[in-house]
Amino acid sequence: MDLSYILNELGEERENYFNAVAPPIIQTSNFTFKTIADFRAAMSDEFKATLYSRGHNPTLNILRKKLAALDNAQDALVFSSGIAAISVPILALLQQGDHIVSVENPYSWTIKLFQSFLPKFGITTTFVNGADIESFEKAIRPETKLIYLESPNTFSYELQDMQAVANLARAKGIITMCDNSYCSPYFQKPIDLGIDLVAQSATKYIGGHSDVVAGVLTGNREVIGRIFNHEFMNIGASLSPHSAWLLIRGLRTMPLRLKQSFESAKIITAWLQQHLAIDQVIWPFNADFKQSELAHRQMQGCGGMFSFTLKEPSLEKIETFCDKLQHILMAVSWGGHESLIIPTIATIAKDDYEINNDRHQLIRMYVGLEEADYLIKDLEQALDF
Ligand SMILES: Cc1ncc(COP(=O)(O)O)c(C=O)c1O
Repeated sequence: MDLSYILNELGEERENYFNAVAPPIIQTSNFTFKTIADFRAAMSDEFKATLYSRGHNPTLNILRKKLAALDNAQDALVFSSGIAAISVPILALLQQGDHIVSVENPYSWTIKLFQSFLPKFGITTTFVNGADIESFEKAIRPETKLIYLESPNTFSYELQDMQAVANLARAKGIITMCDNSYCSPYFQKPIDLGIDLVAQSATKYIGGHSDVVAGVLTGNREVIGRIFNHEFMNIGASLSPHSAWLLIRGLRTMPLRLKQSFESAKIITAWLQQHLAIDQVIWPFNADFKQSELAHRQMQGCGGMFSFTLKEPSLEKIETFCDKLQHILMAVSWGGHESLIIPTIATIAKDDYEINNDRHQLIRMYVGLEEADYLIKDLEQALDF
């Protein structure tokens, strides 16, 4: 399906709403029925009906169709956060006694899900080095039900070879799931590489303007239906029609935004690499990236987020650099119009900082939609110690 068709037409039935170009926000919790027969049919299979907005809603359905098509998936569910799009399917598909093999260091709340939340239900997780396919193989047990990936990682950018992991999992009847927030479906399609379920924080590139928190899960219709009929409806982390409308609007410009962020990231990483105060720049599409071949094989482009380290990575130097920035904002998250910075030191207590710990030294930058030169000027003055 053409990308332009998906973003501009798919799912939209303009003749049903005055030929308006923008779809309506169907701001309703409830839907009515003319006959008991229709009402009963909807109640008996809510996945196929529009009954109550905790389940389906017409504005959300437009978004679901577009998001499923972008991933080359049969269906999609949207959630009120990215972490709900990760937690709900895992709660739906795993049972007490099941085991997960997860890539190490996924998103912080995913770690908390695996380490604190799921053990309450007797589900355990083994974390492995995702760059090494053998480490997945070694960690698999008879009770392993899920292999969880996040490629690339959104702080240190390690990748997993999704085709190799999918082949291994399929042979053993294990479900695979990948957090694709870093690339978005514009730059990477895990389902085409054999992955079963794809989760994404739609808060990032799908929304694209830092004004919505949302999540998306895509996969095979039968599995998506199973998740909908139980944990999705029970947990009730559904998205509001207004937020769905903002995401449809965000999708219209997603390719333009991603291209701009990608191009600016190329310029800014090259500039940082030659700066005397900079030690390393870590970005999957840099020539010296340790998994560069894999990055180019499975990604069609690269998210505009990277990390770098200072040649003198004292806590004070990192703090001074970040405090001096005038236009690049200090904040969590990414994927919006505005460029952001977050150093690891902001995520740990001052006394826990270890100067020789590679992860502690990282300063993560997300490149938004500002001109590259404008951002470089800001970095230059902040690096002038
Ligand atoms: C890689 C990754 N996955 C998932 C999430 C969770 O998304 P949300 O904040 O929309 O719940 C985030 C949030 O920052 C993230 O960075």
